[in-house]
Amino acid sequence: MRQRRLIVLKFGGSVLPDEASLARAAHEVYRWKREGWSVVAVVSAIDGETDARLRAALRRGDGACDHAIAAAVAGGELHSAAQFGLFLERAGIDGAVVNPGAIGLRAHGAALDATPIGLDTAPIRRLLDAGRVVVCPGYVATDEEGRWMLLGRGGSDLTALVLADALDAERCRLVKDVDGLYDTDPNAPGPAPARYDAASWDDALARDGSIIQHKAIEFAKSRRLAFELGKLNGSRPTRVGDLGLLESAPERTRQVRLALLGLGVVGAGVFESLRRLPEVEIVRVAVRDPGKHACAGIPDDLFTTDPVDAARCGADIVVELIGGTGAALDAVRAALTTGASVVTANKALIASHGEELGALASASGAGLKFSASVGGSMPLLEHLRSRPGDAPRRVRGVLNGTCNFILERVAAGAPFDDAVREAQRLGFAEADPGRDLAGLDAADKLVVLAHSLGRDDLALGDVRVEALTSESAALATNAAREGRVLRQVAELDLSGGRARAWVTLREVGPDDPLHAVRLERNAAVVGWESGAVTTVAGRGAGRWPTAESVVADVLELVRAGAPEEVAAGAGGVV
Ligand code: HSE
Repeated sequence: MRQRRLIVLKFGGSVLPDEASLARAAHEVYRWKREGWSVVAVVSAIDGETDARLRAALRRGDGACDHAIAAAVAGGELHSAAQFGLFLERAGIDGAVVNPGAIGLRAHGAALDATPIGLDTAPIRRLLDAGRVVVCPGYVATDEEGRWMLLGRGGSDLTALVLADALDAERCRLVKDVDGLYDTDPNAPGPAPARYDAASWDDALARDGSIIQHKAIEFAKSRRLAFELGKLNGSRPTRVGDLGLLESAPERTRQVRLALLGLGVVGAGVFESLRRLPEVEIVRVAVRDPGKHACAGIPDDLFTTDPVDAARCGADIVVELIGGTGAALDAVRAALTTGASVVTANKALIASHGEELGALASASGAGLKFSASVGGSMPLLEHLRSRPGDAPRRVRGVLNGTCNFILERVAAGAPFDDAVREAQRLGFAEADPGRDLAGLDAADKLVVLAHSLGRDDLALGDVRVEALTSESAALATNAAREGRVLRQVAELDLSGGRARAWVTLREVGPDDPLHAVRLERNAAVVGWESGAVTTVAGRGAGRWPTAESVVADVLELVRAGAPEEVAAGAGGVV
């Protein structure tokens, strides 16, 4: 049966010029994950690696058997898949790098240009059901004897299509350095060639030079398998399938000018990620003390100490990571008033001023996005909008990574103060960890959740909070002895006339989905009007998971086009 909301994404060497570019591919995976898709990612070797390995293998093994050469070359894909798995984990995306041999990806024929003959989908399905992104090295397979085989140059395309076919994926997108199918290479000099929004398999075979592996197109044609060809963060890929040829203008890449306010734990991660995105030009960085960041490799002329000035500098997007409701509020007001879109991770700001800021954004046609304010890279705000025709009635979750981390450490025998210091050192705690411990950080998040659902009848003062102290944390040790765990549980009830919310310390048993929430992770159980109950989980705190969510909001604004075209979406208002 067709697997709804399963996408196979293939990242070719043309979008992997170096290892660092795998972080960019991780953004693409997160884009789909947070929209509720299950993702299988097929990765090629880093650009140039296959040629280099082939040359080296031929030099070393004069007259070597093709399987030996295949084994040497396969290392390129295995390496990039392993690195990609690490980038996903860093971003807080649960991944699983699979071994093509162990998932039964068999091929026969010539060892360097083999034909796939089988795949065992059961292990992949189990991993997908557990919420993992499955990462599979492209291009490589094994024969019946377990020897390495290669699927021919460009064979990662074939791996992706074979996986999409076997898994009955709803979509398969080959991600390359072009935005779709062209008559000739659009990057070559000369007049711009025709570009297509849709094409048949035969059209693709006739028109495509060497962008897609032709063996892969033939396979798709034989299986009547539709697929897409597009670029990173693309919205209008060419669809190839049982389709008439449809010519259309290229998909323009929108360049945005961006001001970054704050260069703390999260800000530094966001800067590091954004500086690698060709569609983003960072035009200002506002920090309290530029001298402190002299070694960060940031050009001096980008720095300002005035966040409001940075917010008004004419940037298209302002990313606010100062935190709190002082300077951050002034700067966000200034940005939205002048029509710049804002991305923020600041839950206190949205909880206390979300309504006002939403109105400012609407008035100026700017976007206001705050996905990172709740749950790090756990896409809870998106999840709350994931069921058309249904509405969340209750949310119950672990929403503060710091408290969860401390409770786990204390349960394992660590002194309370040491656990707090460790949470600070690892970048989980707020600048003022008192807000985490008092339950106010989780309370802010509940108010943000209510606000994102259009419920402005819940203010921070309405949320009943119970603080985590060394005394209450000590209960975690007793709970652990009985197989239970102590969690800080945040609850939002929207079922009555008025929104109600609590943050309390609760023991939860092994059957509770919140029992398995480890360390700084977050999770939430959502009860829906229809009676459905769903769960969502992820890394709730820390530099990279939070930066991932911020970057996803920025990339969404880039995709949406001019700010005035930005539609209201999850984790954001206009
Ligand atoms: N201090 C917050 C937490 C950071 O620990 O969850 C993420 O919002």
